[in-house]
Amino acid sequence: MILLDGKKTANDIKDEIAIEVSTLIANDRKKPHLAAILVGKNGASETYVNAKVKACKKVGFSSTLVCLDEKVPESELLAEIEKINVNKDIDGLIVQLPLPNHIDEMKVTQAISPNKDVDGFHPENIGRMVLNLPTYLPATPSGIIELISRYNIKTSGKHCVVIGRSHIVGSPISILMSRNNHIGNCTVTLTHSRSKNLKQITKTADILIVALGKAGFVTRDMIKDGVCIIDVGISRVESSVTKSGWKLLGDVDFDQVKDKCSFITPVPGGVGPMTIAMLLQNTLISAKRDIY
Ligand code: GUN
Repeated sequence: MILLDGKKTANDIKDEIAIEVSTLIANDRKKPHLAAILVGKNGASETYVNAKVKACKKVGFSSTLVCLDEKVPESELLAEIEKINVNKDIDGLIVQLPLPNHIDEMKVTQAISPNKDVDGFHPENIGRMVLNLPTYLPATPSGIIELISRYNIKTSGKHCVVIGRSHIVGSPISILMSRNNHIGNCTVTLTHSRSKNLKQITKTADILIVALGKAGFVTRDMIKDGVCIIDVGISRVESSVTKSGWKLLGDVDFDQVKDKCSFITPVPGGVGPMTIAMLLQNTLISAKRDIY
């Protein structure tokens, strides 16, 4: 079994980005600049956004963090987005999800200018992704593709089973794995909460991508020998062993399955760090204006 080391791979990508930033600056170009908007006090979202801001610093980007109150009216959030849309110094904008219930997530996603949408969530960018046109790929699926590519895992003609159909991971990764691309050309089965005979399907997977957010959901009896497993889940569960009183668990029961896999991502240290690296890469692309 080979561990897909997302932490190391993400650090390699960040080093590559830092070199590109030095080149931009040597050519009298400004630093790439990422803006993030955080609404309310969701602990996990605060952790993720802080990690994104820290990563910006590490590669030499500027960053702006806008924190808004949990009860902020939707109109005020949309006004903040518009301010950043027209700010020529800012290359990329993300609004951390989920948002409080009184805010329409789709409206917010569509308010972000497609050429600053470094999350790749805007319908225009999703359309471009489906059509294989240059665009910002959503960071988590893009991180999965990059990890598969850098470990030279063959995908053409393989059966890829995805568990979970979220807009952020399951749905876009199913499209990317079936595209006619260097990493792609899989036969993809996208499964979800209404899928029948899930175990029968997962047992035929050459590549299994799990993104449903249920700790330890995939067990040994659900996989075949030699499968490559990408575990996107990251749940905080109580633990009597750790100092903090909690630990992070993936959607796959790692200890049960590890000796049956050809490759597997650990949690933490697998897909998570890759997501941040790809967000930085999208911001760099925007700063270089390579797409639009
Ligand atoms: N919430 C969970 N993942 C993401 C992500 O990739 N981007 C944003 N904006 N919010 C998220």
